[in-house]
Amino acid sequence: MIEIEDTLENKVPNITFNNVCFSWPEKKEHVINNCSFSINETGLWMIVGKNGSGKSTLLKLINGLLKPTKGFINNLANVGMVFQNPDHQILMPTCRSELILNINKKLSRKEITNKIDISLNRVGLTGFDKRPIHTLSGGQKQRLTIACSLISDKNFVLLDEPTSLLDSYSQLKVLEIIKDLTNNKRNPFTALWITHRLEELSYSDAVAEMKNGKLSDWQKPLNFKYN
Ligand SMILES: Nc1ncnc2c1ncn2[C@@H]1O[C@H](COP(=O)(O)OP(=O)(O)O)[C@@H](O)[C@H]1O
Ligand SMILES: [Mg+2]
Repeated sequence: MIEIEDTLENKVPNITFNNVCFSWPEKKEHVINNCSFSINETGLWMIVGKNGSGKSTLLKLINGLLKPTKGFINNLANVGMVFQNPDHQILMPTCRSELILNINKKLSRKEITNKIDISLNRVGLTGFDKRPIHTLSGGQKQRLTIACSLISDKNFVLLDEPTSLLDSYSQLKVLEIIKDLTNNKRNPFTALWITHRLEELSYSDAVAEMKNGKLSDWQKPLNFKYN
């Protein structure tokens, strides 16, 4: 079996925001206001902030869905997304077909099956390839969306409050899977996780707060104080 480490192109991402401003067309004030930060190491990065503070807008700027009104973004990463509600993201009727939809290279049938098995295995869904989507729990669907990022060789996954619709068991499972992927010594993965659940912050390697259109400095979770 080919190891997923050999087939993924998991380079370290490099994202830099330089005095980025963004305002929505019908609103005068900047949602993102002179925001500067960088992410240039692997690991689990987390952002907290009040509702409406601009966290989701920031992710859309990172993945290029939105362009800054002012300032400059340097994006050297292959960015994947995991949304709050997996039903807004999953398009196909089975795990296998959803994963195949996300493969971005020409591969043989054997390589495809192998990559599907490895991706499902890495999110704790071994043997789920033929499972219809409607039989999955919310947490299993979230894990499938993470497997879709893995299979499409993303090296930087943005997760926008991925556990807010999940029960506490599934919440922990999704968090532990992301933690394991980012901790993998041979081929670490990078994730930026938005949360409003403060108890999740202790899993992160670095935390920042979104406030007044800016991201605070990155801090170790033990030192982090939420205002
Ligand atoms: N598509 C949109 N059109 C106009 N305004 C938006 C849109 N999406 C978000 N906003 C506004 O931008 C601000 C920040 O929203 P958002 O980034 O979703 O915050 P958060 O994710 O932190 O809750 C809010 O005032 C929100 O109303
Ligand atoms: Mg949001």
